[in-house]
Amino acid sequence: MLTKPLLLVPAVIAFAFAPMAAPAPVSQDAPAAAKSSVKITPESQAKAHKLYEVDCAMCHGANGSGKTDIAKSMQMTLDDWTDPKTLAGKPDQVLFDAIRKGKDKMPPEAEGRAKNDDVWNLIHYIRSMAKEPAASPAPDPAPAAQQ
Ligand code: HEC
Repeated sequence: MLTKPLLLVPAVIAFAFAPMAAPAPVSQDAPAAAKSSVKITPESQAKAHKLYEVDCAMCHGANGSGKTDIAKSMQMTLDDWTDPKTLAGKPDQVLFDAIRKGKDKMPPEAEGRAKNDDVWNLIHYIRSMAKEPAASPAPDPAPAAQQ
């Protein structure tokens, strides 16, 4: 009775096969902006949501569970971010570095696509995917049951 239709946006999958190798080296001289200086707003999170859907969801899944066809076909074992325990022990800076520099089969997110502030917003967005036992303000646009 809890079966939800699996939402797989085919367009998103196409991105996985687009040439995503950005040859530009990661600039080492630009220190990551301190997270505290980043303002998280509904607008910045909406932007992060869009960026996530285009650049990340194909592998990590729209809900962050990491259970995607691409993860399977590329033999990647991705963390399940819907489990609150997954990211709880990982410092922001570790996540920042993974996103900016890439990790294993994950391509780095170049500065041209996401400024430091955008990356911090992505991290906030990813952390908000955890299903908390208590009430969570996760922006889940589940349509109200009709009829
Ligand atoms: C091509 C598939 C792919 C894409 C696209 C991708 N990732 Fe990843 N991601 C991975 C893999 C593989 C790992 C490493 C998993 C591991 O080390 O266990 C990873 C690890 C991470 C980590 C480190 C924490 C963790 O769960 O291991 C973060 C944070 C992350 N990704 C965020 C992102 C964000 C944000 C984007 C979009 C900007 C993104 N990823 C795009 C495949 C991908």
